Amino acid sequence: MEGGMRSKAEIEANKPERGIGRQGMSPLSQALWKEKVETEFIGDVSARLSWKDLTVTATVGGGEAKAVLTGVTGYAKPRTMTAVMGPSGSGKSTLLDALSGRLPSNAFLSGTVLLNGRNTKLSFGTAAYVTQEDNLISTLTVRETISYTAHLRLPEKMPWSEKKCLVDGTIDEMGLRDCADTPIGNWYLRGISTGEKRRVSIAVEILMRPRLLFLDEPISGLDSASAFFVVQTLRNLARDGRTVIASVHQPSNEVFDLFDHLCLLSGGRIVYFGQASEAYDFFTHAGFPCPPLRNPSDHFLRCINSDFDKVGATLKSERGVDPPEEVTAAEATLRLIHLYNTSPYSRATREEVEEMAKVEGLVLESMGSQASFLMQTRTLVRRSFTNMWRDFGYYRMRFIIYVIVSICIGTINWNLGTSYTAIQSRGACSAFVFGFVTFMSVGGFPSFVEDMKVFQRERLNGHYGVAAFAISNTLSAVPFLILISITAGSICYSMVRLHPGFSHYLFFVLGLYASITVVESLMMVVATFVPNFLMGLMIGAGIQGIFMLVSGHYRLPQDLPKPVWKYPLSYISFHFWALQGQYKNDFEGLSFENQSPELPRIPGEYVLQKLLRVSIQRSKWIDLSVLFSMVIIYRLLFFAMIKAREEVTPRLRRRAARRMLLRQERRGGAADDMALGSLDRSPSLRMQGEGVYIG
Ligand SMILES: Nc1ncnc2c1ncn2[C@@H]1O[C@H](COP(=O)(O)OP(=O)(O)OP(=O)(O)O)[C@@H](O)[C@H]1O
Ligand SMILES: [Mg+2]
Repeated sequence: MEGGMRSKAEIEANKPERGIGRQGMSPLSQALWKEKVETEFIGDVSARLSWKDLTVTATVGGGEAKAVLTGVTGYAKPRTMTAVMGPSGSGKSTLLDALSGRLPSNAFLSGTVLLNGRNTKLSFGTAAYVTQEDNLISTLTVRETISYTAHLRLPEKMPWSEKKCLVDGTIDEMGLRDCADTPIGNWYLRGISTGEKRRVSIAVEILMRPRLLFLDEPISGLDSASAFFVVQTLRNLARDGRTVIASVHQPSNEVFDLFDHLCLLSGGRIVYFGQASEAYDFFTHAGFPCPPLRNPSDHFLRCINSDFDKVGATLKSERGVDPPEEVTAAEATLRLIHLYNTSPYSRATREEVEEMAKVEGLVLESMGSQASFLMQTRTLVRRSFTNMWRDFGYYRMRFIIYVIVSICIGTINWNLGTSYTAIQSRGACSAFVFGFVTFMSVGGFPSFVEDMKVFQRERLNGHYGVAAFAISNTLSAVPFLILISITAGSICYSMVRLHPGFSHYLFFVLGLYASITVVESLMMVVATFVPNFLMGLMIGAGIQGIFMLVSGHYRLPQDLPKPVWKYPLSYISFHFWALQGQYKNDFEGLSFENQSPELPRIPGEYVLQKLLRVSIQRSKWIDLSVLFSMVIIYRLLFFAMIKAREEVTPRLRRRAARRMLLRQERRGGAADDMALGSLDRSPSLRMQGEGVYIG
């Protein structure tokens, strides 16, 4: 009860006076937060996060369940910074993923996560999350990366001079001034260092001063001084009314002192949760005092890291014992976990969590972006165009290959003419151009996969929506695809001397453009379900191989086996429509020499109907329009797939989770200690982003 009063009093204290921002909050935060809640005064828009009995179970090979987190309880309050610490593999990232609703598809969550006393979806901008991996656009410089983020997320009304100030300020805060104009870098372009990338990832998230900020290993790869200054910046953010939770490895004494709370994990269980400054006493009382001159955080980890017990035993015999004396870290950990569970620290944490659950605060909406859809799309088009232009592998390399292959086609089929043998050569040339040449567009897939990773990160942090991404990616690619189509098409057309006349040439180039765009769109769809570039390339190549087979060149359309191959595959295959159109474009209106000069010339229409079995009743322009419709259909499919993954998949997995938990219950396996009863008691099964939430 006392705790409850405390929480309520705290909220009251946090409320601003009318028209004025909260005490101690920077003017920027006031502006940003006020903007979103659209009230006359800001109110308490800070984030109070509590989690109770969180258990994460992952299905591993053979359908076996593995408990990754077990009964984890804790909280994070505004103006505080919480450190999640533990040995490698102890579940730090999993805890942050679970809290932010981003568990991978094979992990299931039970327990309660409350934001301001409510069940809230934390992905898509309600919370910001700097993940362990840095997914940044490699061709942009540090300043460009942060500036584009500013355009994408800050309110449009804010003048650019102010945004620029903020960008420069953030660059300074993260110590990135010296490398501000260096590109991020990729396989062919050496860019900024790993530690600098880490800081850029933090910079793009702290730009919006998020209310709730998760950081997974923000200081890994940083030297001790940089680590200190980065954490110092995070602490300043926290002091400005935010709630910061970060997992950390090896913090120095100074860095450790900057944290308010400590959540110490070992093997997915809580070893200690409470004031960071009191952890030292907890270990001392438990019989594991920190030796003089040892960094306390090093000592905590040494006590609870059982991965190296065997090695430790060997070392002990060589150089005497190291605390914990005579006990292995596994034993020490068990003792500490038991002690914590019966300690006042654990009781206080539970009480605090209970009290926080009783007080319902403001529903926090997504704070990912305050820019309009148009502004987001415009910025994304610019950013994506810049990246496509600079990334050698995206279009430039492909352009070169297209020109080379076109010259090869032109040289081999030089001035085909209208001889008897030209009939077959013309058919083969068209089939090659609309089969293999368009197929080469899969080359851009790896670059697109990189784009998708950046999109996933920004999408989950609410920077912009799926529609803005799909539209901008389509628009920014148009100039490159037009350039490739015109150049490659013109080289082929003029060297091979296909059907004379501008409209025929235009049809050929448009057909090439549409086909290449369809391939790109198809690969975008592939990327949504296989975000790995090797697998994606193989799947994309496989799909196109099948489409090519039914295009009408390798087997005449009427000879294709009717089930599956003709209906529906040949009609789904864009090669089929492209080739049918191009055949008509090339042969209609021409006449060819016969086998001997005495025989009459063969009209193109005869070739189409009797040799290529193409229906000439349908206009070639209809074939072309089908191709363009396919571009639209694939782009819509791309949009729908991402939406479906966000909306539908978690629901399906929620069901799978329920089944798995019940199976585990029957077997009495790893999920024994999971809150199975809550499945029936709880009226709602709720999904959270990628993970499944039950509680
Ligand atoms: N989805 C999953 N499927 C299978 N195992 C998982 C899954 N998620 C986590 N694990 C396992 O749970 C343990 C904790 O993983 P987690 O990534 O949370 O550790 P961590 O504390 O962040 O480690 P590090 O410090 O190395 O980043 C690991 O042993 C990991 O293999
Ligand atoms: Mg981790």
